[in-house]
Amino acid sequence: MPNPSQQIMRLGFGFAVSQALRVIIELGIPDLLAVGEQSVDELAAATQSDADALYRVMRLLAPEGVVREVLPRHFELTEVGAVLRSDQSGPRDFVRMINSEAYLAFEQLMHSVRTGKPAFDKVFGSPRFDWLSAHPEQAALFQRAMVALGQGSNEAVADACDFKPFTRIVDVGGGHGQLLSAILARNPHLDGVLFDLPSGVAAARQGAGGDLPRTEFVAGNFFESVPTGDVYVIKKVIHDWDDRRAAVILQNCRKAMLPNGKVFVAETLVPPGDEPNQIKGIDVVMLAVTGGLERTQTQYESLFDAAGLRLQRVIQTRGSISILEASAA
Ligand SMILES: C[S@@+](CC[C@H](N)C(=O)[O-])C[C@H]1O[C@@H](n2cnc3c(N)ncnc32)[C@H](O)[C@@H]1O
Repeated sequence: MPNPSQQIMRLGFGFAVSQALRVIIELGIPDLLAVGEQSVDELAAATQSDADALYRVMRLLAPEGVVREVLPRHFELTEVGAVLRSDQSGPRDFVRMINSEAYLAFEQLMHSVRTGKPAFDKVFGSPRFDWLSAHPEQAALFQRAMVALGQGSNEAVADACDFKPFTRIVDVGGGHGQLLSAILARNPHLDGVLFDLPSGVAAARQGAGGDLPRTEFVAGNFFESVPTGDVYVIKKVIHDWDDRRAAVILQNCRKAMLPNGKVFVAETLVPPGDEPNQIKGIDVVMLAVTGGLERTQTQYESLFDAAGLRLQRVIQTRGSISILEASAA
């Protein structure tokens, strides 16, 4: 059992493991190990790396359960490490994305804590989504990371909501389109609108999140307006923004919504107490990177009030994500 100082040292060391993961993904090590165990010399030759340096990185990841040193300086992939292979639609893109700009912004977390403002803007000179709009490669990686993060949750949301009463669904900030794809597959009576910034729409058009039949692709800015429809889904978008801006997005849905329309906001609610929960980490990422926040149910209720909407019920999906169903107040 580690003593308290060892536990703190381990926590303080998290950045090293995180960046080591990114390095092995970018070198393609998980793919090289997919065929079986290899020596570090072979891996270094195949990736134009320094064998001794690569060994030290692999040795760091072995106790973390990513690889296993089966013979001196020979490694194999574990079941955990196998999700980093390029033929897996798992978290490799998320690890790469979070260890790029977000990582650099985190170095200035103190700025966010002192000012309440996103460190990202200070480090990169513009807000996160403006910066992504000017960097198409990173924007595409961001969308792939969102697909990885959403594994299972898009289907869970599509299964949990009743879309029978509606005809035209607008996915606001739908990005890659995986949620809309799952909803349209289950609801052949619905037409869809995929609404996002041009980079998000481009990813969806290219099929990043699956087939999108009966879909209109609309690029725009949800702070200005959103397309008309009778049902809106907004998944993992509101958490990107502070209360003032989040209310503007919801107000724009309220304005564009046809009579008797509904808004389904899909987010992970912050639970009370100090149980471990990944959402608490994502919340601090939001603080430093986008200026957004994860919210409790009560905070969402206030947000809906500010936008002229009323929370009607909260639907718990089979995953960690909840759906807050709202209609015009
Ligand atoms: C965290 S992602 C969520 C994507 C998707 N809904 C999901 O659940 O994976 C936020 C999305 O909001 C989009 N977005 C950001 N600012 C926007 C704006 N001003 N107008 C429209 N879409 C925007 C981003 O491009 C991105 O696709």
